[in-house]
Amino acid sequence: MAKVSDPIVINKTTVKNRITFAPTVKFDMAGPDAMVTEEHIRHYRERAEGGAGLICVEATAVEPGGRFAKNHLGFWDDTMIDGHARIASACHENGAVVLIQLNHTGITANPECGPAIGPSAVETRSGKTAKEMTITEIKAMQDLFVNAAIRAKKAGYDGIQLHGCHGYLINQFVNKKTNLRTDEYGGSVENRARFAAEILKRIRSECGEDFILSVRTVGADPELADAIAIAEEYVKAGCDYLQVSHGMSEAEPGLKSESDPYNTICAMGVQFHKVFKGRVPTSCVNSIFEPDQVKYLIENDLTDTVDLARAILADPGFPNAVLNGTPYVRCFECPRCQYGPFTPHKCPAEKKRTL
Ligand SMILES: Cc1cc2nc3c(=O)[nH]c(=O)nc-3n(C[C@H](O)[C@H](O)[C@H](O)COP(=O)(O)O)c2cc1C
Repeated sequence: MAKVSDPIVINKTTVKNRITFAPTVKFDMAGPDAMVTEEHIRHYRERAEGGAGLICVEATAVEPGGRFAKNHLGFWDDTMIDGHARIASACHENGAVVLIQLNHTGITANPECGPAIGPSAVETRSGKTAKEMTITEIKAMQDLFVNAAIRAKKAGYDGIQLHGCHGYLINQFVNKKTNLRTDEYGGSVENRARFAAEILKRIRSECGEDFILSVRTVGADPELADAIAIAEEYVKAGCDYLQVSHGMSEAEPGLKSESDPYNTICAMGVQFHKVFKGRVPTSCVNSIFEPDQVKYLIENDLTDTVDLARAILADPGFPNAVLNGTPYVRCFECPRCQYGPFTPHKCPAEKKRTL
């Protein structure tokens, strides 16, 4: 029986335990230059000190137009390497393995940052029509991801994660409603996965065999079977670690029983583990707030690692609390940390922690 404190090897890197800090954007930390700030370094250092075995740094834009908002972290220029190197060191000094999630918003682009572009000319959230990317633009976009990964390696990150879920560009290529293409980037599973798969192959060849390649992938889009087939393409292209979250479709019913101590999004990750077990480590996520939930998922071999976002935002020491049975401040499940880029969203649990 695996324990939460058991190490796990991803590619060739040993992660000291089974708890990971999920990528979580902090809008209030980056300025309009998208550079790493002292606040970022403090934030990630605290999460590493709190015991997370692996930290995935927040969705980071590969070009200015792909940001959620102007105060969103980026990695499109070599001048950004030093700041990221400080995040990587702060995590390493405290024993955590650290990846960085690379992203582009695509058709959900914030008009203040850049135009809505994507696999097809579909309607955007603001009622406008996105621009369909030409093959030349697709290749140029892939270059941006690869170049950001090369910078990530120079900064000392142990690997990268492609943001392949939550409706952003890679997810838009995967989803049949946003990808209506009839060329080699649309249609079949292989074609819809090709955009990200080609990026993975190129990063592998540029950054070497030991560099961890992860994808945060969809658990259903439209259904589990399709999502697993997409993930198989990523694995064929060199993906070493799958974190499973939601895409643009709801989880299908029947993936879990009423009594299971986890929700349907987490259940998709559990299903992935059954398929990829022994081949590629997988992680599940969503609404895991209790130490017993983490233990249940690991000790019953339902996942390789457990991804925690809000629990670790509320209390960076939550992983140590799970591992050692020590007290922690529980996430209030208020929506404040999810407020958008323009609203102050100081976590009230963090305040309680410092009183
Ligand atoms: C403030 C905040 C920022 C987030 N930013 C990201 C992100 O950058 N990339 C990502 O893949 N998911 C992001 N998410 C989603 C989380 O990683 C996670 O999947 C979600 O919060 C559910 O997990 P939880 O219940 O442990 O919070 C964010 C969530 C929150 C609350």
